[in-house]
Amino acid sequence: MTAPSVVLVGPMGVGKSTVGALVAERLGCAYRDTDDDIVAEQGRTIADIFVDEGEPVFRAIEKLAVHKALAEHDGVLALGGGAILDEDTRALLAGHRVVYLSMDVEEAVKRTGLNAARPLLAVNPRRQWRDLMEARRHLYTEVARAVVATDGRTPEEVAQAVLDAL
Ligand code: S3P
Repeated sequence: MTAPSVVLVGPMGVGKSTVGALVAERLGCAYRDTDDDIVAEQGRTIADIFVDEGEPVFRAIEKLAVHKALAEHDGVLALGGGAILDEDTRALLAGHRVVYLSMDVEEAVKRTGLNAARPLLAVNPRRQWRDLMEARRHLYTEVARAVVATDGRTPEEVAQAVLDAL
């Protein structure tokens, strides 16, 4: 069975896509993002799936996409920020090289602001961020073999830190 060389987890807006593409380039392998897989497979945006069907349906779609990508991708894989909410997914990640890209709440608010394309932040981003981080931080930590802080660092510096952590 193939396995990703590295799986990136962490909150939305932390830079998983940018950093993931840089890490893939340096490793000479392909980059894949489960959000992109979902959009391609569903033919609609993530925001539309949330609005049309609600978060539980999105999570079920996401779980399938994540498990499929973990089984078939052998490059760098980035997961959507909430993928680690699923217990089976967390169990599966125990067998992979997972790196958690972290950032603090103020950095998160600064980077994402009020972003309608990110349905979980549509209102009161600072409070939503605080709640999200509190609910998820321990889950990211639980699945990760390494934590890379991104605050005040460029994507290139973060990519290098990920490579150093492998
Ligand atoms: C989500 C993160 C998003 C996307 C969806 C839900 C979350 O992915 O899957 O909007 O629950 O944190 P990114 O982390 O790639 O932005």
